[in-house]
Amino acid sequence: MLPFEPPAQDDQSGNRQRDAGSDQYVSNSLQDGNAGASELSGPRIAQVDQHIAMYEAMSINHELEQRAVASARAIAFVHFDMTSPKNNIVEALVHQGDLIKIDRGLYVLIESDEDQRRYSGRIVEGPFFDPDVLKRDSTPVQFIILHQGQGKRLSLPEYHGRIHIELLGEEVNGLLYPTTRRPRPASPVFAYQSSMMSDMLHLRGNILLGQLDTYKDVFVHIDGENKEYLPRNVLTVGTVGSGKSNTDQVLIEETLAANYAQIVVDPEGEYTLMDKPVETAGVQEMLALYGRAPRGVPHLTVYRPPLCGSKRADAVEFSVPFDSLSPELIAEITDMNETQGMRFTFLYEQAIAVMRKEGQGPAQIIGEEEEANLSRGYPGITLDFLLDILNQEFAHHEYKREEESAEKGKKSKGAAKSDDTSDEAKKVLPSSEVNFYCRVHRLKPLIEDQHDASSYGALRKKLRELRSTRLFDRHDAPKLDMVRLSEPGHLTIIDMSDCDDREVKNIIIADLLARMYRYKMDLDEKTNKQRRVMLTIEEAHGFVSRENKGKMEQTLSQLQRIARRGRKRWLILHFVTQSPQHLPSELFELANNKIIHQTTGTENLRVLKLAAGTINEGIWDEVPSLGIGRAIVVSSQYPHPIMVRIRPAASQRNYTL
Ligand SMILES: Nc1ncnc2c1ncn2[C@@H]1O[C@H](COP(=O)(O)OP(=O)(O)OP(=O)(O)O)[C@@H](O)[C@H]1O
Ligand SMILES: [Mg+2]
Repeated sequence: MLPFEPPAQDDQSGNRQRDAGSDQYVSNSLQDGNAGASELSGPRIAQVDQHIAMYEAMSINHELEQRAVASARAIAFVHFDMTSPKNNIVEALVHQGDLIKIDRGLYVLIESDEDQRRYSGRIVEGPFFDPDVLKRDSTPVQFIILHQGQGKRLSLPEYHGRIHIELLGEEVNGLLYPTTRRPRPASPVFAYQSSMMSDMLHLRGNILLGQLDTYKDVFVHIDGENKEYLPRNVLTVGTVGSGKSNTDQVLIEETLAANYAQIVVDPEGEYTLMDKPVETAGVQEMLALYGRAPRGVPHLTVYRPPLCGSKRADAVEFSVPFDSLSPELIAEITDMNETQGMRFTFLYEQAIAVMRKEGQGPAQIIGEEEEANLSRGYPGITLDFLLDILNQEFAHHEYKREEESAEKGKKSKGAAKSDDTSDEAKKVLPSSEVNFYCRVHRLKPLIEDQHDASSYGALRKKLRELRSTRLFDRHDAPKLDMVRLSEPGHLTIIDMSDCDDREVKNIIIADLLARMYRYKMDLDEKTNKQRRVMLTIEEAHGFVSRENKGKMEQTLSQLQRIARRGRKRWLILHFVTQSPQHLPSELFELANNKIIHQTTGTENLRVLKLAAGTINEGIWDEVPSLGIGRAIVVSSQYPHPIMVRIRPAASQRNYTL
């Protein structure tokens, strides 16, 4: 709710009660005159005295006087409505001399004296210009306009401006409420003083985004200390080059300074130089406007996936613990078909059975009847172990086949030798058979016929490919440490610039999400607040997209779980994308904070508008032409979407093109 304190003239509003008595007087005296005329015959009496009395009464009308004084500060007056008016848009006319005070984006107070109501609004269109008396397409006007320049300069007819104001609500006792009415014609329109904007729009906080559009001295912050605001997931969208990454850098710099930890999944390696100050010419002066100076972030660690390079020589190679991800999630990310997925689950369960027989795995699971919790991987299970089991299965299957064909051979050579039953007893098993895990642990083999063999063959190929990424369980490349990653003020960049493998990228993100979530779930409330984490996924549509949504159910539900429950644990997800149309609608719903940069394309605009339902037409129309660095910010902190000029980043960007 907005505390509205209009400019100085407001303290008189209590006096601005309509002077019913004098109104009464004016209308009665006119009625008297007419009544007299109808009743009397012959020439009408001038009734001069009555009219003088009437004008005298008008001259001491406080309301009119006050209106005149108040209107002296007005920048516009509400006009009668257009032929096809909209409920939330009011047209107002501006005197030529006041045009200098008009800016789009200006917040205004409209005092509708006639019905004693006050409205708050924002100029969203205009100023458009019309001649005062003549019609714009009349011959004289066209003549004058056409005779400018080329040595001629005819003086312009007097003209005025026309603006469209989006009504934001009705103010009652300093608070803003949705309105079901509109201000009456001729109501004066006042500009709010810029000193009031911060309180009015709830722009205070410790995370600076930029300036309120059209106001040079009003800064837009988000309160990073309030669980209801920033920790409610963020979505940044915008077309190529609209300023998304700059916004992201700003958000990173500011949240780090507010003692958040930041983790960025960086597909282009753009953020890997953020520990250095920005060097672009002229940016120092621009930053000074926001009370900032070129500066690198103090604590940065760059990580790189196995077999991938990084422009940072000090980038740390890391690996992923295979047991961090559930078998369903692995099957989904590695794009296994239904049969492969099923076989993979059998294999996984078989591996768990073996581990249990060997006394491995979590201590609390004792009996075989107890189900393992497979919403995560089985603790201690590795890809190498699964492949080892598969290899043993194939060796066994091969052995069996050879045995069978040898048996057939014997039979075909004649019955004479078939009575030599001692052969079987004397046979010595190869060590692979002696040590075959199914024999050792009395388990049923997975591969029993040729059909099983070919199916598991395809799975083995897939798992071998996965192993060749050298992504999992490497002693020489430790897993990402959630304690370090959640260190207050620490920036972690996962540099994926040299990684083309979508599966690898998605496994890394899934592991990061899963382990950070579990880590945060285990912390108490106080420690969670000390270890606030924002996790940014650039090019989020590459991770989960509308098109592959059906095949990414596990991933999506993992995201939903984190997004819903992460807020209480101070774990914030930040998605950045240039293609909102490709992002699953679920992700829009999860992001309460939206930073909308210039966006084009009918479909992009349609899905965005649907998701950001509270954005009114007036401001929405600007989205395709916002330009670089201007954005509409939707947040639960602000009473309505606001237009922000995002500040430039103070740290360096690694431009990759
Ligand atoms: N708020 C801003 N103030 C000043 N310059 C900006 C601002 N935002 C962006 N820029 C500049 O505009 C250019 C494009 O911005 P940026 O790279 O952030 O856009 P992007 O939306 O991330 O683009 P892409 O889709 O290619 O990733 C950069 O040179 C950046 O420095
Ligand atoms: Mg970018």
